[in-house]
Formats: sequence, C-alpha cells, structure tokens
Amino acid sequence: MIRINEHYLKLQASYLFSEIAKRVSAYQAENPDREIIKLGIGDVTRALPRACIEAFHRAIDEMGEESTFRGYGPEQGYLFLREKIASGDFQSRGADIVPDEIFISDGAKCDTGNIQEIFSTDIRIAIPDPVYPAYLDTNVMAGRSGAFQDGRYQGILYMESTRENGFIPDIPNEPVDLIYLCFPNNPTGATITRDRLQQWVDFARENRALILFDAAYESFMRDASLPRSIYEVEGARDVAIEFRSFSKTAGFTGIRCAFTVVPKTCMAYDGNGQKHSVHALWNRRHGTKFNGVSYPVQKAAEAVYSQEGRAQGSELIEYYLKNADLIRKEITALGFECTGGKDSPYIWVEGRRNSWDFFDLLLTKAGVVCTPGAGFGRCGEGFIRISAFNSFENVKKAMARIKEALAG
Ligand code: MLT
Repeated sequence: MIRINEHYLKLQASYLFSEIAKRVSAYQAENPDREIIKLGIGDVTRALPRACIEAFHRAIDEMGEESTFRGYGPEQGYLFLREKIASGDFQSRGADIVPDEIFISDGAKCDTGNIQEIFSTDIRIAIPDPVYPAYLDTNVMAGRSGAFQDGRYQGILYMESTRENGFIPDIPNEPVDLIYLCFPNNPTGATITRDRLQQWVDFARENRALILFDAAYESFMRDASLPRSIYEVEGARDVAIEFRSFSKTAGFTGIRCAFTVVPKTCMAYDGNGQKHSVHALWNRRHGTKFNGVSYPVQKAAEAVYSQEGRAQGSELIEYYLKNADLIRKEITALGFECTGGKDSPYIWVEGRRNSWDFFDLLLTKAGVVCTPGAGFGRCGEGFIRISAFNSFENVKKAMARIKEALAG
C-alpha cells in the first residue's frame, strides 16, 4: 500500500499566495468588468533591463550554432556568473566570499525550502512571526513540527516581530539550532542594523546554530549604513547561509535565477558532535537533485553586473521605491500606521481590523489586491501587506480607490 508523508496533513489548506489567487479569480469571474489592481504577491511588472535582454538573445544564438552550443552546465552554475557575484555583491563590500561558495539556482523560494533537508529532523527551528510562509511549510512537511493548534505549529519557536520590537525579533532566550532571518523583511519591510545582526551572529556562534539569511530584497536598501549581506558582519562566515535572487533586483520572476552562498567555513554537527562542512552537504544535494539554470538565463543574469545592467537595474528599483513612497504617504494620510516601504518594496499596514476582512474589503470595494497579514502568521493578524510592484499609474489609481472605499 502506498502511504503518504503524513506531515503534509498538518499543513493549512493551501499556500498563502495560491489562496489569494483563488479568491481573486473567483471575484474576477463574478465581476468580469471590474479592473483589478494587484498589489498582492511581490511579482514584478516592468520589462527586463535592456542589457539582460541583449545578453539573453546573444546566448540563445550561441545555442543555435554547433561551435558554441552548450548542453548540461555545471550544477553549481557557470563560473562567469559566480565570479561576477562574488566580486560585485560581496568582495566589493568587504565580505570575504569566493565564487566557489556560490550556488546558482532557479529561485530563492526553492533554495530556502530545500536547504532544510540537509539538517536533522529533530533540530529546534526558530522562525519569525510574521514570516514568508515557505520557510515554515517546508519544515512542517519535513516533520519538524507537531500539530497546528491555535494558529501555530507545535514544536516551532516563533520569534515575534511586532510594533513593540520594531518588527525585529528578539534573540531567543533558549538554545535553537536553525534560525530563519529575512532583511529587508518580507512581509514587514523592516531592516536590521549591523550591530543587531552582529548579536544574532554571536548568538549562533555561542549555540553552534546556523542562520539562514534571506536577503532577496537587499537591492531596495537606500540607507547606506545598513548591511546588505550577513557576511559584512564579523564571524558570519562560520554560521550563516545567505539567499539572494535576481527576481526582484532585476525583474527575473518569470525567467528564474537566484543564488545561495554557503561559505566553506560553515559547519554543522552529527549526533556525536563531529563537525561537517555544510558546503559539502549542499554541494552533494545540489549535484544530485539539480541540473543547473539554463545558459541563456545565466548570461542574462551576468549582464546585471555590466555597467549598463547596473544602471538599468537601479532604475527599476528606483521606480518601485517611488511607488512605495507614494503608498506610504497615502496610507499614512488615511490615518494608518505602517512600516517598510523605505528600504523595501513592501508596506506593512496596521489595518485595525481582521486582516482577511480588510483584504476582502479592498478587493470588493476598491478592486485592489493586497496580502492579508494573518497569512504570514499570528502576529500578522490586524495587518495587510501592500506591495509596490506595479506601474506608478496603477499604484496612484489603487490609492485613490482605497481612499474612496474607506470613506464610503
Ligand atoms: C511575496 O509576495 O512574498 C513573494 O513574491 C513571494 C515569492 O517571492 O515567492
């Protein structure tokens, strides 16, 4: 008899963004003439940078000639891209990361979801609340939690991010093994200072724990005093893995390219307390289960680091940050408190009502899609997340409609 992995039965009905998409489609089917403005899932709307498109085309032409055709590439990614990342994103900021420590992949969601499988199932996990749901769900699937009760999975340490702590979780006062951190944060848009990040790294070192640092939104940081990478912090190389993505940085959500940094000095332990290289384990997993990102996509990603690519990429980010500024301004003028939107494309709004009700109200009265905070965890109840990914015209229109809906 074929049996299922019963940990899947603990999961809540469906993945947050699938549930939202389902509700929006149902509403749209009933109201076919209603124009819906999507400020929900963080999906980019602007075209790829010209430099990336040109590199993409050139690489496709290479695939059409026998002399330049390529079959399987290295599972870890082509060196031309890994070198650009190591120097452009890390060494240039004083972070000591080399190309061989970078693994190219098809998305930070996949990487943050897959990485947990190289660790024991009986470790203690610390997860922020609210949180990007993939971190939590993948651990539930792997059996690292008990049942779902009162809005939380048993056995997981939830680190609360609230207005009181500035949406930066407090360092746990008990030992944990695997810690998820995301800055600029999804969903709250909060950022972390170097000193605070240093405290996390020190905590991980003291506890022989590991930090999974999701920096998918680092390119939205304007404040130059903030760390862009956890490796800008002393001692992080031994206790942290970092995830990055070209999705939001350069508009790659539809063509898929991301990377994970696993320093060679990063260690984890077996049941006898014996050290093992996390890099070697991840490399083993990657080589077994992944055949690499396509050559043209990696060429397009490489172009992000060219002079034109950098300028065009910054222009994209500035465009979305201008949307974020407008959302913050309008939401604040409506009397709501919010965080994020300064160094992040997300604005976390305290809605003063049930977050799914607020979601429904904005959808039905304003034709605007947001993300209900409760979908990110218990501490998200009462909040909604508004994303800045859309055209400036649509954001302006959405804010005018929200104003009208709330007045009526
Ligand atoms: C989000 O809206 O939180 C993200 O776009 C989801 C993702 O990157 O997978």
